[in-house]
Amino acid sequence: MAFGVIKHVRKVFQLEEIGWTALEPVVALDDASFQFEAGELVALLGPSGCGKTTLLRIVGGLISKTAGSVAIAGREITKPMGDYGFVFQAPSLMPWRNVLDNVLFPMEILKRNDAAARRYALELLQLVGLSGFLSARPHQLSGGMQQRVALCRALVHRPRLLLMDEPFGALDELTRMEMNDLLLRIRHETKASVLFVTHSISEAVYLSDKVVVFSQRPARVVKEISVPLGYPRGQKLRFTTAFTTTERIAGEALGIVAPASEEASAQ
Ligand SMILES: Nc1ncnc2c1ncn2[C@@H]1O[C@H](COP(=O)(O)OP(=O)(O)OP(=O)(O)O)[C@@H](O)[C@H]1O
Ligand SMILES: [Mg+2]
Repeated sequence: MAFGVIKHVRKVFQLEEIGWTALEPVVALDDASFQFEAGELVALLGPSGCGKTTLLRIVGGLISKTAGSVAIAGREITKPMGDYGFVFQAPSLMPWRNVLDNVLFPMEILKRNDAAARRYALELLQLVGLSGFLSARPHQLSGGMQQRVALCRALVHRPRLLLMDEPFGALDELTRMEMNDLLLRIRHETKASVLFVTHSISEAVYLSDKVVVFSQRPARVVKEISVPLGYPRGQKLRFTTAFTTTERIAGEALGIVAPASEEASAQ
């Protein structure tokens, strides 16, 4: 059986439950299904508001689903599990803690903040190039640096699954490319499986083994695309035919690029 199995997941937000009695319930996900293997990096690509964050929160056990099932490593997910790391769009670091103590925070919660944890935190911070900033406070760091700290914090307890929700969406393009390469390296080192939500077709193709494309809300999977690129990856890949062809296939699945056959017949 696959490491991650997401089957017929449906999520309806009952707005009256949160006091919005005048509004209809929102169907955020409708029959979303896909699978992934251990160690795979899967990009979840879809239009804004289609339900990607909702799906990630369900996989992370942070919110309930209305129907369907989510199993990770053979276990049905109904509540948050210790085996996960989360990275959100905003780094949300604790401003009063320095870099090292922010990274070690999950180990404090897990009551495993020992010498080995500290060694691994230092190793991760070195990997992301922040060894020189261990005692800096978040406000002394750039946005990209803060997001690197958030990445280390998500990895410090050695999760088997990393859930990333547009983690690099707020960064400039150059920093984003650097972060993409960093994530590929970290993923190679840690062997963690990754679900990576993004709006960016090229980021999805560059990073992933597989791109899962979602429809407009309520989200369903419209296409799963295997990415025909090997490892190690580098920025030059972006200019290869394999890369641009995969981007095109994803663009067609999203409905923002006309299918090649229609374009030919229109000329
Ligand atoms: N807690 C909530 N209560 C009510 N409705 C919600 C809640 N969270 C999300 N929704 C609704 O569910 C739908 C999907 O939201 P979601 O945040 O999953 O989209 P998304 O694909 O992540 O969008 P984006 O790409 O803009 O981040 C939206 O219509 C949103 O309004
Ligand atoms: Mg979202």
